[in-house]
Amino acid sequence: MEFPANLKHERLRAWVEAMTKLCKPDQVYWCDGSEAENQRMCDLLVQAGTFIKLNEAKRPNSYLARSDPSDVARVEDRTFICTTNKQDAGPTNNWMDPKEMHAILDRLFDGCMRGRTMYVIPFSMGPLGSNISYIGVQVTDSPYVVVNMRIMTRMGSRVLDVLGEDGEFVPCIHSVGVPLAPGQQDVPWPCNKEQKWIVHFPEERAIWSFGSGYGGNALLGKKCLALRIASAIARDEGWLAEHMLILGVESPRGDKTYVAAAFPSACGKTNFAMLIPPPAFEGWKVTTVGDDIAWIKPGPDGELYAINPEAGYFGVAPGTSYKSNPNAMETIRANTIFTNVALTPDGDVWWEGMTDTPPAEAIDWQGQHWTPDSGRKAAHPNARFTAPASQCPSIDPDWENPRGVPIKAFIFGGRRSTTVPLVYQAFNWVYGVYLAATMGSETTAAAAGSLGVVRRDPFAMLPFLGYHMGDYFNHWLQFGRSIPNPPRIFSVNWFRKDSNGHFIWPGFGENMRVLKWIVERANGHAVGVESPLGWMPRYEDLEWRGLEDFTPEQFYEVMSLDRDAWNAEILSHEELFLKLYDRLPKELNMIRQLMLSSLWRSPEHWEIAHDGISYAERHG
Ligand code: GTP
Ligand code: SPV
Ligand code: MN
Repeated sequence: MEFPANLKHERLRAWVEAMTKLCKPDQVYWCDGSEAENQRMCDLLVQAGTFIKLNEAKRPNSYLARSDPSDVARVEDRTFICTTNKQDAGPTNNWMDPKEMHAILDRLFDGCMRGRTMYVIPFSMGPLGSNISYIGVQVTDSPYVVVNMRIMTRMGSRVLDVLGEDGEFVPCIHSVGVPLAPGQQDVPWPCNKEQKWIVHFPEERAIWSFGSGYGGNALLGKKCLALRIASAIARDEGWLAEHMLILGVESPRGDKTYVAAAFPSACGKTNFAMLIPPPAFEGWKVTTVGDDIAWIKPGPDGELYAINPEAGYFGVAPGTSYKSNPNAMETIRANTIFTNVALTPDGDVWWEGMTDTPPAEAIDWQGQHWTPDSGRKAAHPNARFTAPASQCPSIDPDWENPRGVPIKAFIFGGRRSTTVPLVYQAFNWVYGVYLAATMGSETTAAAAGSLGVVRRDPFAMLPFLGYHMGDYFNHWLQFGRSIPNPPRIFSVNWFRKDSNGHFIWPGFGENMRVLKWIVERANGHAVGVESPLGWMPRYEDLEWRGLEDFTPEQFYEVMSLDRDAWNAEILSHEELFLKLYDRLPKELNMIRQLMLSSLWRSPEHWEIAHDGISYAERHG
């Protein structure tokens, strides 16, 4: 095997040799991350039929990949956290004994790369050389993974320089799990249809992934390292690894406030991170630091600082348009990999919601001829784009600042067609942890399982936490106690529907109206009135210029609290709490009791004042 000249790390060399011995690839190739290498890989992918090169005039240096129809999303039921004690993984994770699991993996990976090349990808999550970054090295037999990792992480030769002789790295081993017999023809999207395993060993800090080539299953720096392994490290070291976007809000006065927001998969993080304020918000500006993952650490000044460990966006394509998210559309104009979208006759891409009028014909995500009246979706609902973050027009000037940006508010939001109001602010940190811990969301195509049912997704981290959920709640509570002025915590819900099934709130850019209130509350300026859940804005507390046809009646509908619905909601929290009983912090049960008791106060407590009289004035 040939090693790169700047490889000085004996443990890494030995690990790659061991993986080679196990997986038995035909060749081993160390990725240097160069432009020339990337071009060679893309050409290779075109030859193999995995990539279709898009029209160079319309979508420069961009490609379309169609996955196997069975390999279109993360596989949560095949995702494992292997800790020595089962209790440490907790009841919300799949668990297996590490020894048992290693035995299974050793058998699975034995010879799994026969007939293929093993690529070695050194990568950094976080800016190269920053002391908050973590280095991983992924070996993979998928060239598709290589070109995606090049966009999503800082990848290549420079990482070996940072590693030096004995730097720490997280070993990540990945195979599509389809060895080739001599002379056997490969398929465009190899994946193992019988077996998929996404396995984490938080104690030894290692990741093994078998059988899938898609997104979070295969780009191991993302969910596996930056969330599942990192969350376990963060618990031990006193910081947070979260499924959160990070954005900055600049006011006309020039002051800047950063917030981090956790929404479950396919619930609007990318849209919110790239929000463009409506015209009435002259002088206001929203900037993007990250759209999916935040690492958050207390600084020496007691403030919380967040970095985005990623270098690109792996965003949901369907629904993305110049109307809903112009910044995303600009970001993906070139140098982008599209997966499972439709191909138009002129060699460009299309997906549901991209334009008002669909193309007269296209090739759908499965490679079939498609017309608007074919009754099928042109793009898979979880179709995605992979694009460099640096191409985003709203990218924050500090997005690569290794110190991070100071966070003033945390926002949590699920997809709830009923019950949960547009926005409210938790009374304090413990109430905030409660609202995040009990967050529910109607399931989307990003996860396997039935669509549209409410599942509890605490902190939007249910599929991404590398340890016991009860310990995680406790970590958040302790974290808030350890900092002098913790960020304010808010709940939002863009997805409430009226009795006809239509979204009440216009959403997207109009979310700026809610964001402005949040930022002003976090800075101690805006007015809020007390409700049983927390502080809420009245109609007159939000900016309405440019949205005059959204009436106060509609506002109070989208803000309304229904006592019976909340009774049922709080009762349903019990189910999660019972599941986590052995390690649930007692404070959360107390908050639950307080909320139940406020439920049975007089009914008018359940209405925010229409007439501008606050709850406190009326009832104080
Ligand atoms: P992951 O990348 O899966 O973690 O998800 P994400 O949270 O970044 O998802 P994304 O922003 O791509 O969410 C896309 C979905 O959210 C699409 O169905 C959008 O239509 C919908 N969406 C985003 N913002 C809004 C909004 O303000 N209102 C409504 N009604 N839908 C929205
Ligand atoms: C998510 O599902 O939350 C994603 C996409 O961000 S994936 O990387 O495939 O997990
Ligand atoms: Mn995500």
